[in-house]
Amino acid sequence: MLRLVAIDDDQQTLELIRAALKQSDLDIILATEPLEGLEAIKSHHPQIVLLDLMLPNLGGMDVLDRIMALDPEIDVIMITAHYSSESAVRAIQKGACDYFDKPLSIERLRKRVAELLDEAKKRIQARQLEHELLKSYSFEGIIGRSPMMLEALAKIRRVAPHFRILLLTGATGTGKELVARALHHLSPASQGPFVVCNCAALPHELMESELFGYAKGAFTGANADKVGLFEAANGGTICLDEIGELPLVSQAKLLRAVQSHEIQRLGSTSVRKLNVRFVGATNRDLRALVAAKEFREDLFFRLSMVEIQLPRLADRKEDLSLLIQHLLGRFGAAYGKRIDGITRRAEALLGQYSWPGNIRELENVIGYACMITDSTVVDVNHLPEDIRSPNAKTESSFDIVSLEEMQRIHARRVLDHFGGTQDPHGRVTRCEPIDPVPSAME
Ligand SMILES: Nc1ncnc2c1ncn2[C@@H]1O[C@H](COP(=O)(O)OP(=O)(O)OP(=O)(O)O)[C@@H](O)[C@H]1O
Ligand SMILES: [Mg+2]
Repeated sequence: MLRLVAIDDDQQTLELIRAALKQSDLDIILATEPLEGLEAIKSHHPQIVLLDLMLPNLGGMDVLDRIMALDPEIDVIMITAHYSSESAVRAIQKGACDYFDKPLSIERLRKRVAELLDEAKKRIQARQLEHELLKSYSFEGIIGRSPMMLEALAKIRRVAPHFRILLLTGATGTGKELVARALHHLSPASQGPFVVCNCAALPHELMESELFGYAKGAFTGANADKVGLFEAANGGTICLDEIGELPLVSQAKLLRAVQSHEIQRLGSTSVRKLNVRFVGATNRDLRALVAAKEFREDLFFRLSMVEIQLPRLADRKEDLSLLIQHLLGRFGAAYGKRIDGITRRAEALLGQYSWPGNIRELENVIGYACMITDSTVVDVNHLPEDIRSPNAKTESSFDIVSLEEMQRIHARRVLDHFGGTQDPHGRVTRCEPIDPVPSAME
């Protein structure tokens, strides 16, 4: 249902507005007191507000400020009997969408309100559509509809029932652990344990005893037998995060464990057979580590037989709006707040940002915005300075050059391509005809 709130201390104007705008799909709420009007806005969430500039107790400009703080997406039309261009400019600067003088032109008012209602309907439909999309493009908590994510999701579905060993690669915050959990959940071992070990967080000397356990008396201080993480994951899945950080000596033991499905506790002679699915995750380039002899080639080949690569958020901006919507719902619920969405200008800023920390960074940004907003939407002023400032790391940031310089650069490129020369003023002086056969085909 679409709603409009009209605030004016003159009852006659309110009745006129009601009569002029009466229609079946619009709920019209009238208020003669500014505070009463603000309460109506808070509880009814209108799409449009008609606001008198001269109000008792609280001026129309102050009410406008409060409305914008409540929800900057509301379209506010100011109405006044004392037109001045300064106050019109001020109102527009504060976020009003239009400024009408009294006596109200019924025709103009009807036309403008019809336009605004039309836009509001489109926004509501778009939001509903996104909601539907979110349902269909969410799989095991992994959200994505970009071709790259759909490909990764299809692979996850295909390999989850069968894999024994698998490599997950992707930059920090791209969802490697989330995918590892999904792989476990979708596997026949889903009833078994899921164990994660972050190799970067373990000191090298403790790595093997953590992973494989030890027998009592294996070293000074080993007062009792200890079960390692591999054994703890028996019947389920173990995920070794940051596997690129694993020291070479431990890599040899790991290879044996994943190849023969056997482990030996430190200081013990008995071999234990295990049934564990193995996921190695890394944000490093393992191929480069192999070339630098920091990662065993045989382990790399074993691991990379099945590899799932997770794309950076900057490479799948199509997913941004779904992710934002999902996170707004999640954090709104966590903070017990009603969050309806994000303003178009705030979403545009998020779209321009380069997201070096990927989805974890997006999560932090939306989480913080939901925490500090005291309205029902997230707006630009709830975003961190990094994203708001015009110097933010944007995807398309480029050096601004003069038109002449652009022409020179372009001419140089053309010459490089076709083979020619340029005089000192940047003019093309010679240009060879090009061979119609592309060199790649020769
Ligand atoms: N496609 C996605 N849909 C929804 N949430 C996601 C998605 N990808 C990641 N997340 C969320 O982003 C956060 C970071 O993901 P995760 O911890 O899995 O990243 P990671 O690749 O393991 O990062 P790191 O390399 O830093 O360990 C998590 O809270 C996760 O739930
Ligand atoms: Mg991780």
